[in-house]
Amino acid sequence: MEKFVVTGGKPLSGEVTISGAKNAAVAIIPAVILCDEPCQIENIPNISDVSLISRILQQLGANVRRINRSSLYIDPTKIRTCNAVTDLVRGMRASYYLLGALLGKYGKAKVALPGGCNFGVRPIDQHLKGFEALGATTQLVDGAIIEAECDNLVGTHVYLDVVSVGATMNIMLAASKAKGQTIIENAAREPHIVDLANFLNSMGADVRGAGTDVIKIRGVEYLHGVTYSIIPDQIEAGTYMCAAAATRGCITVKNITPKHLESISAKLREMGVKITEYDEALKVDATVGPLKRCNIKTMPHPGFPTDCQPQFAALLMSVPGTSIINENVWDNRYQYVSELVRMGAQISVEGRLAIIEGGTPLTAAPVKATDLRAGAAMIIAALEINGTTEISNIQYIERGYEDVVEKFRALGADIKKVYFTGDNEQELGA
Ligand code: EPU
Repeated sequence: MEKFVVTGGKPLSGEVTISGAKNAAVAIIPAVILCDEPCQIENIPNISDVSLISRILQQLGANVRRINRSSLYIDPTKIRTCNAVTDLVRGMRASYYLLGALLGKYGKAKVALPGGCNFGVRPIDQHLKGFEALGATTQLVDGAIIEAECDNLVGTHVYLDVVSVGATMNIMLAASKAKGQTIIENAAREPHIVDLANFLNSMGADVRGAGTDVIKIRGVEYLHGVTYSIIPDQIEAGTYMCAAAATRGCITVKNITPKHLESISAKLREMGVKITEYDEALKVDATVGPLKRCNIKTMPHPGFPTDCQPQFAALLMSVPGTSIINENVWDNRYQYVSELVRMGAQISVEGRLAIIEGGTPLTAAPVKATDLRAGAAMIIAALEINGTTEISNIQYIERGYEDVVEKFRALGADIKKVYFTGDNEQELGA
């Protein structure tokens, strides 16, 4: 079993370079299916979710190969099936983007869907509503496979009942080759939605308004091959910013877009962290004085991102006073709380609220990552503690964080990945 072993108690210092955005990559890679020529995608994070979606495209017949560590060559012209019912597909939530991409290109898609995830049911009714509005028929087969089909997709109005990142992107994919104009209202506005729109437009699509809550897509017949570079990962950056604050350190976070981090920077500033913005970097200085408690309410972009909520809980448990988190995007994203409590945190959960009595003494304890961001929170919590913490279930963390051990080590953290076999412990290549 692989684990991270973290000995904390030291302020982080130095520089970290942020990788390409996971949640942009897992949409843009399947979006290449729509293209009528090969594409090269750059600034791709080297994470297991990217390997998975790449292998899924290969299963469909696409030629996908790595040009270097952060670039992929994808030739979708050899795709021979729209049937994506495999265990790989089932193992990845973002495989729902295959529906929009295959439907948009070939007029049909059969895609296996994963069940509920670690923070509750994740419905896709808004995705399906969009496809149906465009003229497709959709049906759920055996409770776990979606079949979608159409003769022609025709542009339409879609009003989303909830602000959904996945539904917004999936409808953009399906509509980009439809006949006429599609208008998505109450669209999500995350940076990766703008990134997907920019990618589609660079291939010759006509997508306007991405980044606002009304997106207009006029379908085109042909999409040409491009070389495209993915935006930096807002949540990876937020995670390192949070870790710097939690250890009362001072770090520079490079290769970022400061505008994408405004809500995170604002909260850290409110807590007393000094943030200095540069063109593509931020300096996060938590050495300037004691930190203050704060409240957080997660919201769709430009609100505070739910994907940074667990990391902030880990930070706030070290800050004296009562902080309240209001999780407003997912029904139940607090599984990680019981792990933090094992470390001495005083956190109680009441529905959507987590009430944190910060500043209590913390001690090392074996903990597990209950999902990707929960895992990031465990690392941050472990870095705060004078003692050695073992974190298990690290496969969740490696789904979404490139070189997490190397990056934290470069900031002075004492973290290693070890393989445990009974009594034996063996360090893996850092
Ligand atoms: N929702 C519906 N119906 C739908 C779709 C969503 O009711 O058809 C609800 C969800 O249940 C949730 C809310 O709408 O309460 C928002 O869900 P959204 O569709 O925006 O989430 P998603 O697209 O499935 C992406 C990220 C998540 C991130 C959310 C919110 C990817 C692959 N995943 O999920 O990222 O939490 O947006 O920002 O892009 C992560 O990176 O750790 C992660 C979980």
